[in-house]
Amino acid sequence: MRRAGCLKALFCLFIFFSLLLLWNWGSQVLEEGRRFWLSDFAPPGRKGVDFPSLFSTDLPEPKCRTDLLLLILVTTHPGHRDSRNAIRKTWASPSTGTSGRWRAVFLVGRTLDVELDWHIHHEQKMNADILMGDYRDSYRNLTLKVMHGMKWAVERCRPRYILKTDDDCFVNTHYLPSFLRDRLPGTAHLYVGAVFPEQKRASRSV
Ligand SMILES: *[C@@H]1O[C@H](CO)[C@@H](O)[C@H](O)[C@H]1NC(C)=O
Repeated sequence: MRRAGCLKALFCLFIFFSLLLLWNWGSQVLEEGRRFWLSDFAPPGRKGVDFPSLFSTDLPEPKCRTDLLLLILVTTHPGHRDSRNAIRKTWASPSTGTSGRWRAVFLVGRTLDVELDWHIHHEQKMNADILMGDYRDSYRNLTLKVMHGMKWAVERCRPRYILKTDDDCFVNTHYLPSFLRDRLPGTAHLYVGAVFPEQKRASRSV
């Protein structure tokens, strides 16, 4: 009888430690999985956007007047000089749009191409309308480009309104500034843009 009791106790202890080991091993596996999952999406030590690292001193920043009504941020590839020049000559030209308190600024990233870099510096000397960020200019880094542009706009430019567009888009600068000016007194937090209704989103994801 005593011996059976002893065996039973040993057996219980064995089960207990086995469960403890299993538990330990299981949580280690879970932890590894979690780490792997996180590392896939967020590099270690980086939470959200590291804004200060996006600011570059390579190129002088464009100057902003303090009472700007509308700032138009134009994402553009460093090599798209022709698109930028076309925009400068057309809808972003002060003589084209309603004059006054609006301007366009081009957003570019860093390029390793020495010749392209030289051209950007030259363009900036002539036009002073390029904001260069300290990130590699690539399609995958577009988010950084927009984040940097927005941050710069809010901190250094402080316009009433920001419009974000691309270098292959047309902005009606005849109409937009006066549209915003007319709506200024009553409208705070005006947010205008293309709306993706639920049905459209559903059809897109199919
Ligand atoms: C984005 O920019 C960062 C900083 O320059 C660079 O390390 C990274 O390789 C770039 N990512 C892509 C996908 O180009």
